[in-house]
Amino acid sequence: GRSVVTLDDIPLPRIEDLLDRAAYIDSHRREVAHTCDGRVLATLFYEPSTRTRLSFETAMLRLGGQVIGFAGAQLASVSKGESISDTLKTVSNYADIVAMRHPKEGAALVASRAASVPIINAGDGGHMHPTQTLTDLATIRARKGRLTHLTIGMCGDLTFGRTVHSLISTLCRWGHVDFVLISPDELRTPEYVLERIDASPTCTYRETSDLGGAIGDLDILYMTRVQKERFFNEDDYLRLRDTYILDEAKLRSAKSDMAILHPLPRVNEITTDVDKDPRAAYFEQVRNGMLVRMALESALLGDELPGYETKMEVEA
Ligand code: CP
Repeated sequence: GRSVVTLDDIPLPRIEDLLDRAAYIDSHRREVAHTCDGRVLATLFYEPSTRTRLSFETAMLRLGGQVIGFAGAQLASVSKGESISDTLKTVSNYADIVAMRHPKEGAALVASRAASVPIINAGDGGHMHPTQTLTDLATIRARKGRLTHLTIGMCGDLTFGRTVHSLISTLCRWGHVDFVLISPDELRTPEYVLERIDASPTCTYRETSDLGGAIGDLDILYMTRVQKERFFNEDDYLRLRDTYILDEAKLRSAKSDMAILHPLPRVNEITTDVDKDPRAAYFEQVRNGMLVRMALESALLGDELPGYETKMEVEA
């Protein structure tokens, strides 16, 4: 019940409350430093990660808790053939909360059914990455002051980019977003995500392969990496990986207050000269990633942040 496999089953006021909690934590670091004293987080990462794993871990450490886990399936008993269910039944004895990343879509759901403690999906294949979405929402809200009435460009690998699928699905619930889906033909947005947009009475989308032609309309430009690890064929990856490279020259036709997001890691999609542009928000995103994970971990454990008053009318 308390696991977070997708944001789809979290009511919107609850998501807004998590963003409020993250902002509160940012300005009350000292006050919240013992919120999760005595708690143990397990991070089970069957796939590479820098930001997600380290931010989950530092979030728990900064709340006063402790961390166990493995990074790389070769070091865990899955390499001897252990199932996800048995792993989670085991780890439920050691930890109060678990963050798990796995290459297979649906792995987090399987884990949540086996575990007796809350599971947080830290990415399941090309499917969902809910805490990245919280990170992205926090960054959009901080930059634009709102999550609606925006034109948002998603650019790059829209087929395999789970962060894009998660973010679009969640934004469609508030509505009033015009999406511009910018990708090569081979990497278009999956049908189930387009259906989400179609199902929202106030959201629209258009698909294009022309970043230069679309950039001037955008309030947010969400760049993505071509997801090498999800390609079946190396030649296709090599042909498509550098389709979009955002540099200062391309940004000349963008709005002066457009925000550039990227879940990172980047390869070549954004040149490093863009990093000093005030529109670049991707390292702010990294920071927000830690804050939203502090908010989520403490909320799922039921550990109240000292001094925080929720604006939610009814506890969702
Ligand atoms: N954004 C993100 O998920 O980064 P990592 O793969 O480094 O965790």
